[in-house]
Amino acid sequence: MAKKILVTGGTGYIGSHTTVELQQAGYEVVIIDNLSNSNASVLDGIEGITGRRPVFVEADVTDRAALRKLFEDNPGIEGIIHFAASKAVGESVEKPILYYRNNLNSLMNLLELMPEFGVKGIVFSSSCTVYGEPDTNPIDETAPIKPATSPYGNTKQICEEIIRDYIHAVKGVKSILLRYFNPVGAHPSALIGELPNGVPNNLVPYITQTAAGIRKELTVFGDDYDTPDGSCIRDFIDVVDLAKAHVVAMQRMLCKDTDAVEVFNLGTGRGVSVLELIDTFEKVNGVKVPHRIGPRREGDIEKIWAEPRKANEVLGWKAVVPVAETLANTWRWQQHLDGK
Ligand code: UD1
Repeated sequence: MAKKILVTGGTGYIGSHTTVELQQAGYEVVIIDNLSNSNASVLDGIEGITGRRPVFVEADVTDRAALRKLFEDNPGIEGIIHFAASKAVGESVEKPILYYRNNLNSLMNLLELMPEFGVKGIVFSSSCTVYGEPDTNPIDETAPIKPATSPYGNTKQICEEIIRDYIHAVKGVKSILLRYFNPVGAHPSALIGELPNGVPNNLVPYITQTAAGIRKELTVFGDDYDTPDGSCIRDFIDVVDLAKAHVVAMQRMLCKDTDAVEVFNLGTGRGVSVLELIDTFEKVNGVKVPHRIGPRREGDIEKIWAEPRKANEVLGWKAVVPVAETLANTWRWQQHLDGK
């Protein structure tokens, strides 16, 4: 029988791509999402790609009663992938309580209900932001955790700690913490992708919206960093590659005799600068991205890219989509949105 997985935030950007990969790998998916930063039409995209519509429960993971009802109505959930969270760094500085409430309460509700409903493990969406500004690159999982620079980043660190303490106390429940670098791109079908609300904060949605003429101009936040071209360097990982890592992590957690908590960096291992990324986008798609250099953005890390060897060797997973292909997929997705 197909294993049943609960995907929180499953209509969101990474959640929807992961739902597709889970279904294609033979899992049955139940999604819970409050649609605060996504749209139910994403379910059509998932069905269009996989031929199957996941079970969808519109509810908030911070609503304990609703979550309990979900487990009662959908017996036999074996694993959880927990994406549902607030994720805008700037907003988290302005509304810290909202971030702590959403991101911590949702996790604690899930953890508390897991043993009662026989759920064996939880894969948690963490971030390379826990490393802060690294002393050296590439950065591996043994690197020190630095003080968080935003409430958002702090929620990721605290959630990792909550999971460790909980798993230590409760036998028979496992967790895998996945630290993402910079997820970008869209499904090659152009049926699902990122749907930013309002003015995008992140680089790639801003690039695509500028190329599409929705935004007049992109500001590159600083060209005086200590990098070859002066702009910041990131490890941009294709969202489908990232989604596939969740499937292998789930398989490992449920089927193998492993440590109760494991942590993996998910990145390509290659650093690409902001200016290089804009240049590649323009070349690959044959479009212009009007941009100018502006001041540095407060709190930005100068350069960070992953040492993904542990994920490569232990999970048997590797990021394979070239960045040019990722940027072509993103542009196709933007055109699909504009054509709607
Ligand atoms: C941030 C968070 C990360 C979070 C992610 C998704 C930190 C340190 N990182 O990543 O934890 O998971 O957002 O929300 O908090 N840029 C421009 N112009 C723009 C937009 C961005 O030049 O209009 C530059 C930024 O200065 C940065 C790079 O592009 O150097 C990537 O920025 P962004 O996409 O926002 O991601 P991060 O800040 O790396």
